Amino acid sequence: MEAYKIQQHKYDVVVVGAGGAGLRATFGMAAKGLKTACITKVFPTRSHTVAAQGGIAAALANMAPDEWRWHMYDTIKGSDWLGDQDAIEYMCKNAPAAVIELEHYGVPFSRTEEGKIYQRPFGGHMQNYGESPVPRACAAADRTGHAILHTLYQQSLKHAAEFFIEYFAIDLLFEDGVCHGVLAWKLDDGTLHCFRAHQTVLATGGYGRIALSCTGAHMQTGDGNAMAARAGLPLQDMEFIQFHPTGIYGAGMLITEGVRGEGGYLTNSKGERFMERYAPNAKDLASRDVVSRAMTVEILEGRGVGLEKDHIHLHLEHLGPEVIHEMLPGIAESARIFAGVDVTKEPIPVIPTVHYSMGGVPANYHGQVMTIKDGNPDTVVPGLMAIGEGACVSVHGANRLGCNSLLDIIVFGRAAAAWCGDHVKKDEPHKPLKAEVTDKILARFDKLRHANGSLPTGKIRLDMQRTMQKHCAVFRTGPLLREGIQKLQDVWDSFRDVKVTDRALIWNTDLVETLELENLLIQAMTSIKGALNRTESRGAHARDDCPDRDDKNWLKHTVAWIDDRGNVRFDYRPVHLQPMTSDVEAVPPKKRVY
Ligand code: FUM
Repeated sequence: MEAYKIQQHKYDVVVVGAGGAGLRATFGMAAKGLKTACITKVFPTRSHTVAAQGGIAAALANMAPDEWRWHMYDTIKGSDWLGDQDAIEYMCKNAPAAVIELEHYGVPFSRTEEGKIYQRPFGGHMQNYGESPVPRACAAADRTGHAILHTLYQQSLKHAAEFFIEYFAIDLLFEDGVCHGVLAWKLDDGTLHCFRAHQTVLATGGYGRIALSCTGAHMQTGDGNAMAARAGLPLQDMEFIQFHPTGIYGAGMLITEGVRGEGGYLTNSKGERFMERYAPNAKDLASRDVVSRAMTVEILEGRGVGLEKDHIHLHLEHLGPEVIHEMLPGIAESARIFAGVDVTKEPIPVIPTVHYSMGGVPANYHGQVMTIKDGNPDTVVPGLMAIGEGACVSVHGANRLGCNSLLDIIVFGRAAAAWCGDHVKKDEPHKPLKAEVTDKILARFDKLRHANGSLPTGKIRLDMQRTMQKHCAVFRTGPLLREGIQKLQDVWDSFRDVKVTDRALIWNTDLVETLELENLLIQAMTSIKGALNRTESRGAHARDDCPDRDDKNWLKHTVAWIDDRGNVRFDYRPVHLQPMTSDVEAVPPKKRVY
């Protein structure tokens, strides 16, 4: 193995990832006086949060009566009762303050006539414990994530956090079960860097790129999840992958649910507004799992639109150019560029598309990573935290409500900063680490850098994505999943024969993509095996062969460990069915009514 020189850096805390969660944590920690580094593989304002469109949920009651208890109820119900109720209470209760704080930091929200933050209805957000829709999504037109991300980056610079931009995190520095930081590769000059920290915060996002059609950016490869898995930690609830009903057909680009919030609707080849049959109350604003399944059924039963009858139409022509230009300018542009459609005149061709990973690294509502040890399902892993889409707190359970993702990243980024502010001592010295900690990481890196097999990375990635798209999609069955697992195992094994053509260390995108592919394979395998293992239907996990929710056997989180051959071992964590405070009633699982 080539002798790599490593530059050393010492911080109190290191945040990996500069999306909304990472930036909110970064500047929160810096503001508390901690020596804080944020390392990120892309420039912060290119992180995937920039693509979030419709809004951030908070019961501000700016446009109709609302309260956080209703938000909490909707989130638990939306999670199909798999969400941890203490964490959900924490998130919904803290939402209004977190959003007002964002407003004060400078987020340019859209406004009502009276100058309050504009709010629009979104799927599953209801008044009075499920009675009728409520506008709860605080929006900056249809570019809410963009507005938030830029504001958070400005705040981070103001608070003098130190940024290491275009650094690829290779692996966590673990010794004797404690995380001591992360080893990263600086992409523009090829140098390697050891970042020591008393708390390392994973804010690395989701892993939507396991699938072929996905609303996520190409960098959404769940690097933090894979680093945790390689460190011997479990991943939780990986079988729950959310499909957004309205990805642009053929391109995957997101068309916000805010379109339906503003009055848009879906039709099949007969021009029928079919959601009226599937969800008579909520109709087009039913939760995403319900709408995605309804669209899929329409297509499978021959009522899809287009030559191949394989997609659905989303209409907003009737809203008129004024509403579209003021409230939905971003999707009008996306539809024009990616579907060639003028939304003021014609419907957008859409299809359910992989959008969000409910699963990830198990963490509590302070952001501390958890594992199961000596029978304790909530054992904290010292030195490691996880927030944002890569974490499974679990506030979304089996299915996330729209706009609860921007909320999750802000509330838990803030919570992680508060926890570190209270518990991490400033300038505490770092103990030396054994050489084998970094040697092991470098050996894997070096092996991939010099990989000289016969298969290009792109071919193996495509095989993985096609397998996941076909075998682990909106509807699943045992036989389909079993066949998919076999195919994915072949893909996994083929990775041993990967060929990296570029051996250099400077801007080696071939090697970056290969490292990312290895990360994705870990998550694809835990997802598809988790999907076979869970013999019920719940939230986004719809098993045609086990169509009912089975609370007797499956009201529990899946916890999965994966080894380097793709073998997965399962255990379970109980769902936290008790809220955090006694003035809120626990919400018992009920039969589904939409
Ligand atoms: O439809 C959307 O704007 C997406 C929002 C979300 O996933 O929270």
